[in-house]
Amino acid sequence: MEEKSGQNPILKMGRDGMNFFLKWIFAALVVLFALLQLTNPAFTNPPIKNDFPVTNAPPRVAALLRAACYDCHSNETRWPWYSHIAPFSWQISKDVNDGRENLNFSDWPNDNPIRAAKKMEDMSEEIGYGEMPLKKYTLIHAGARLTKNERQALEDWLDAQAARLKSIAATKN
Ligand code: HEC
Repeated sequence: MEEKSGQNPILKMGRDGMNFFLKWIFAALVVLFALLQLTNPAFTNPPIKNDFPVTNAPPRVAALLRAACYDCHSNETRWPWYSHIAPFSWQISKDVNDGRENLNFSDWPNDNPIRAAKKMEDMSEEIGYGEMPLKKYTLIHAGARLTKNERQALEDWLDAQAARLKSIAATKN
């Protein structure tokens, strides 16, 4: 027994030394965590430029898009409390920035029916393949989990809108 504690520095420290050691580790972790909070990125909801005409959609479709997509694909992001806490804040702000870059309901090409149609086809595809909304999001946001039936309703409406916009563009040219 004597010999063992001689070999192991933690056992050698004894109970008091150990408590002291753990307190310092804990204090260091608290300080580190506090310092990490200085690295929180900015959480912005820039002004809405060109709003997606979501009011043209049936209320069910509009509600589903808002619940499942708007947090990452609009300037109307609801930032939950944990989005302000590093290290989660880094990933969440990255997802929102990447999401907005790919598709932004607050910067919608209302003046360009071909582009709008393409975006709606992309959305329909992502929803159909089950790629969107992202899994890590639906894990936390139960309200964003889409049933098969809801996916179908979204796809049907998006496909019909895309076709309508394309035909509008065709008659204009
Ligand atoms: C948690 C955030 C998040 C949510 C919620 C979310 N997306 Fe995305 N979306 C992203 C990110 C990040 C990207 C870009 C990177 C990628 O493709 O994974 C993206 C990309 C896309 C793209 C472009 C894909 C491509 O490869 O061109 C479409 C279309 C899209 N999302 C549609 C949707 C739709 C529709 C919903 C709701 C049903 C939705 N997203 C919900 C984060 C999200």
